[in-house]
Amino acid sequence: MSSYDSIYRRSLTDPAGFWGEAAAEIDWFKPWDKVVDDSRAPFYRWFVGGELNTCYNALDRHVAGGRAEQAALIYDSPVTETIQVLTFKEMLDLVSRFAGVLRRLGVNKGDRVIIYMPMVPQAVVAMLACARLGAIHSVVFGGFASHELSTRINDATPKVVVSASCGIEGSKVLPYKPLLDAALDMASHKVSACVILQRPQIQAPLTSGRDHDWDEQMAGATPVDCVPVAATDPLYILYTSGTTGQPKGIVRDNGSHTVATQWTMQHFYTIQPGETMWAASDVGWQVGHSYIAYGPMLHGATATLYEGKPVGTPDAGAFWRVISRHRIPVLFTAPTAFRAIKREDPDGQLVKQYDLSHFRALFLAGERSDPDTLQWAEKHLNVPVIDHWWQTETGWAIAGVPLGIERFPVKYGSTSKAMPGWNVQVLGADGQPVGTNQEGALVMKLPMAPGAFTTLWNAEQRCRDAYYEENPGYYTTGDSGYIDDEGYIFVMGRVDDVINVAGHRLSTGAMEEVLASHQDVAECAVIGVTDEMKGQLPLGFIVLKSGVERPHEEISKEVVAMVRERIGPVAAFKTALVVNRLPKTRSGKILRGTMHKIADSVEYKVPATIDDPTILTEIGAALKTVGYATKA
Ligand code: COA
Ligand code: AMP
Repeated sequence: MSSYDSIYRRSLTDPAGFWGEAAAEIDWFKPWDKVVDDSRAPFYRWFVGGELNTCYNALDRHVAGGRAEQAALIYDSPVTETIQVLTFKEMLDLVSRFAGVLRRLGVNKGDRVIIYMPMVPQAVVAMLACARLGAIHSVVFGGFASHELSTRINDATPKVVVSASCGIEGSKVLPYKPLLDAALDMASHKVSACVILQRPQIQAPLTSGRDHDWDEQMAGATPVDCVPVAATDPLYILYTSGTTGQPKGIVRDNGSHTVATQWTMQHFYTIQPGETMWAASDVGWQVGHSYIAYGPMLHGATATLYEGKPVGTPDAGAFWRVISRHRIPVLFTAPTAFRAIKREDPDGQLVKQYDLSHFRALFLAGERSDPDTLQWAEKHLNVPVIDHWWQTETGWAIAGVPLGIERFPVKYGSTSKAMPGWNVQVLGADGQPVGTNQEGALVMKLPMAPGAFTTLWNAEQRCRDAYYEENPGYYTTGDSGYIDDEGYIFVMGRVDDVINVAGHRLSTGAMEEVLASHQDVAECAVIGVTDEMKGQLPLGFIVLKSGVERPHEEISKEVVAMVRERIGPVAAFKTALVVNRLPKTRSGKILRGTMHKIADSVEYKVPATIDDPTILTEIGAALKTVGYATKA
């Protein structure tokens, strides 16, 4: 039996033994009584009775263990022409002092702190400072606008918000403070304080009595020590898109997250303590949590925080410069970043300009990897390129090739095999397992692996309904796909209203809510259409109320602006088509799937339940006007 097979099998037959051993790599203030507790299934709990501190495991123990002078975090920011290397000792100093700042502002164990920051080291410092206090952070991605931020403020009810005067996106300097101020005004929950990092590019006006300057606070801060928390206590909430405008607050605990994330560093990504890992993502996303803020430092390795883009900062050689400059052996990013690079440097000329001799593997996730892009990366980088399947909910890879265990061959189009702890199965429409090579709902038999989310913040029933209700005993991923006879998993796409735009997870349902709120819109639909660079792009259809006679272009422009203002630029919502009717089933369900196929010029069957098939021709004609449905 191969190493992968035996390790995988043991993780399912003896989870307590398997993860109990992994947990021995972590420092505990008090050992656990039970590795996995099923008394509240489907809400499984790990390392019950144990006490630890995640920040202690990321920083203090490495300083004490001889890594004080080793780099903990490399900040590489082409947009500000800055490179800063922070050692474990320096990080510990910053984090314990910022924990002191938060405590002085009233933050204690269990309190929430929202972090709305660009890709600067202070964002990671704030996250770890919360962990140090046993407070629960919730990082909100900078590309979300005020309304989305206010929704999260109302749900998480933070005592404090930590933010910055601006973010820098390529050549644009984007003020954050006006967005934060508007969100705070909109929110019914009132925070007691904000800490604002003033960046040299923009000085934000501070509201007296509420806003505090980061530097001033830090200058007078008293460092605080780690607060022991229960393994089952929440470490963070990370909001992700669901099917409605109300985002889902994914809750991750301290114990199982620390054990699983640390375990993946060597076993999955091959990173040894002392080496550097680079996850080219954002701290506002799951990958940024797991492999910028936590994973590397938990493992005594170095994390990379890159404030730049794959292209344009300054060119498509940016990734190779960073890898070569910091001797990075492993990069993890979204395929869209490689599509952007490939488009600008199709022959990989820029790759050749850098010494990448130490580089050993590329990991891609967040959306489907098209074989062309994957093969381009293989050819020009000459290292294993691993497509691995992820969700914010799972916190780490469900499937892939665990290079630290065994390098089995990849199959293009597949995210390879299930990782230890994840019992992945495929269910048919009747809820029963289907045979190999047959498509159905991708599910995980419970319990999931440690590190998976424990619940939705303030919404246990919604969590049951969304993930556990449809297939009792399983977690429903929302993805469809199949498993072949060698155990390779093929993820075919979402079955719900979630789309992936440039690796960013977005809800078409949330966009529909915005469109529907326009005074002239009677009904609407938003679908994800295939885009060569971003993977998917949202596209809206609106039906106007009768009697509305304003020019259609004007109304389209207004709804596009509304999505940008309410959800944020990251939604990349640029097109809304005015149509007379939407195709529906006789029971009134909008046929979004069929519209999607028409847009992508994919063969489709006219659904038997359709109310009026002629509408499909109208939809095809409307799509043609904006360059889709070219073969319709
Ligand atoms: N703060 C404020 N605005 C942001 C933002 C942030 N943190 N991140 C993105 N935006 C804005 C961008 O400026 C852009 O605005 P625009 O409409 O005014 O141009 C919009 O949101 C869309 O951004 P993005 O999706 O990044 O598209 P892009 O065209 O600027 O860049 C890529 C395209 C492919 C280079 C870029 O999407 C990329 O690097 N993707 C990798 C994705 C990734 O890391 N995903 C994480 C999962 S691993
Ligand atoms: P997120 O929660 O942002 O990580 O998005 C999770 C979703 O992205 C999954 O449910 C999939 O639909 C998609 N996804 C993530 N990784 C992959 C992959 N490697 N291949 C195909 N789809 C993926």
